[in-house]
Amino acid sequence: MVDADLRREVAELRAELERHRYRYYVLSDPEVTDAAFDALLERLRTIERAHPELDHPASPTHRVGAPPTGPFETVRHAQRMLSLDNVFDVDGLLEWAERVERNLEGVTPRWTCELKIDGVAISVRYERGIFVRAVTRGDGETGEDVSANVRVIEGIPAALDLADPPALLEVRGEIFYPVAQFNAMNDAREQAGEPRFANPRNAASGALRQKDPRITAQRPLALICHGMGVADGLDVDGHTALLSLLAAAGLPVAAETRRVEEIGEAVAFVEHWGAHRHDPAYEIDGVVVKVDDFAHQRRLGSTSSAPRWAIAFKYPPEEQQTVLRDILVNVGRTGKVTPFASFDPVLVAGSTLQLATLHNEDQARAKDVRPGDTIIVRKAGDVIPEVVGYVPGARPPEVEAAGPWQMPSECPFCGQPIERLNGEAASYCSNIDCPNRLLESLAHYAGRGALDIEGMGYETARTLLDEQLVGNIADLYRLRAEDLLELDGFGDKKVALLLEGIERSKQQPLERLLIGLNIRHVGGTTARLLARHFGDMAALRAADVEVIAGVTGVGQIIAEAVVAYFANERNAALVDELARLGVRMTTDRVAVERTLEGWTIVLTGGLERFTRDEAKRAVEDRGGKVTSSVSKKTSAVVVGTDAGSKADRARELERPIIDEAAFVSLLDTGQLPSGTGGADQTVG
Ligand code: IVH
Repeated sequence: MVDADLRREVAELRAELERHRYRYYVLSDPEVTDAAFDALLERLRTIERAHPELDHPASPTHRVGAPPTGPFETVRHAQRMLSLDNVFDVDGLLEWAERVERNLEGVTPRWTCELKIDGVAISVRYERGIFVRAVTRGDGETGEDVSANVRVIEGIPAALDLADPPALLEVRGEIFYPVAQFNAMNDAREQAGEPRFANPRNAASGALRQKDPRITAQRPLALICHGMGVADGLDVDGHTALLSLLAAAGLPVAAETRRVEEIGEAVAFVEHWGAHRHDPAYEIDGVVVKVDDFAHQRRLGSTSSAPRWAIAFKYPPEEQQTVLRDILVNVGRTGKVTPFASFDPVLVAGSTLQLATLHNEDQARAKDVRPGDTIIVRKAGDVIPEVVGYVPGARPPEVEAAGPWQMPSECPFCGQPIERLNGEAASYCSNIDCPNRLLESLAHYAGRGALDIEGMGYETARTLLDEQLVGNIADLYRLRAEDLLELDGFGDKKVALLLEGIERSKQQPLERLLIGLNIRHVGGTTARLLARHFGDMAALRAADVEVIAGVTGVGQIIAEAVVAYFANERNAALVDELARLGVRMTTDRVAVERTLEGWTIVLTGGLERFTRDEAKRAVEDRGGKVTSSVSKKTSAVVVGTDAGSKADRARELERPIIDEAAFVSLLDTGQLPSGTGGADQTVG
């Protein structure tokens, strides 16, 4: 006899899973992470296994997706579109492989390893080689006819490129929104004050379900094929042969797919892509391992929801849920006030997270997260942790009643008013001597990218400020051993190390000093451009806005910030004092290095810091070439605002696409920033 509690739990789990399915598949607006959904499903499955009397054919554990409800016509699939069973570790994968071999009575099959694309499943039907219909998965039995929208997606042929096409072929695959374009689109939405899409899959799903195909056509959707449904007149005996045929027919297939002989090689594939998860142009959430031979596949058959001949190895989620405890603010070295979220520690993609920036007042309010909310936090690859949003269903009434978070009116460090200038996104502490601002400036000055003073981290900076041994940067150069030795925890060795580090920092070249001075908009790249151009501090201080803005790679806004910095009396006095104390004010003037020898660059769209001629000259000065059209030989395509078809062409030819910031860094270093698809770059 099953107790009532368990029955209630099963009913609740089913109701909750139904609700999440609806939000995910129908509204394209999920409320919980995939991992949270999987966990609920797994819990239900475990109970049903232990208590078969509670199992039911209509349970979410036996179903795929959700029935279609949209404005599109419903179509019954000629062959069901199944889901996949999941494993989450290598043991799970090996157990599945053993089960397969047992079921094949000891035969070791060949395996195909594919990336598991996190997109929208689609079935595209070709009759005598002609596109006739495209249908979403729906609940696996029936889906929505989105033919009009799929027809306009680039790269999906209207006719198969086969001399003798099969009478019927249903191609199955994933439609996705490429990650780079997704991020650019989301940034643009944010700038226009529109809400961001949660992830590329939702954006793809939304674009695919537009009522007007013209809108879909404007989205950079793409397809990767990974299988087939019904077919008639098709002569292939295995998955690899099928993929080759699809490719020959002009259909897109994944370049990463590998056929392997041993399951150990599949494990290596899983591990490789786990470490390179963000290299592909599309989001992946795992790897799919398939039995290659169709005869073997037929022998293995399927369960009610998934084939036994394939398994999905799911990577650890990059999104997790946790509880937001507080929203705090920090005051940075420019006085900028940045709100950040403090939440219960949570393990995401291999690191424990507890804090994440909320950037500014508007972004914090747009997310509308409040202390006490269950929030979704995300960390993708090397990307900084991010609060995606909150789970509306989990908001306690008192949190709802508390109302949206508000930026404090006073600085928590000095009590002075926090101000926000008209039209600016950022808020500032109005106190130029705010102790936290000083702390951040000192730590920045001593940091690796700037003067690189060994022995001087945050803690030391804090102690020196608290003990009033320093009140500004110049005071560092007046520190005396006898004063430091009196401080708690400052022994002979530590003091000697610190003083040596400070002394050595006097010899750092001008660009490092410029970084350390904390001039608005002047980061590493700009500091190097300025130092190289002007050679010494005096020349830079003498230059006006026009001259500085004329330096390649430095625009009007930066030039104005530099001039404004030196026009401020306190800043001017500080720089004079540093010079008097023996800090070097020159750089080693170097000729422009030929960092782009052998590179062919295409420029498209408007750039902020360069006119087209300047950008071209900058490339040519460094030994590179600028051409007007994208080809296989193109090393990189620089995409500015309102870029046209060249960006599309670059995607087609899989050439690295970079933005202006990456272009500036390329000019400087001769290398593409990681993550721009330039890993296989052999020139330069
Ligand atoms: S094979 C009979 N291969 O993941 C089902 N599916 O979570 C065969 N997916 O429903 C599916 N990449 O929509 C297969 N390389 C891949 C895939 C893939 C993504 C999707 C597919 C499937 C879902 C299961």
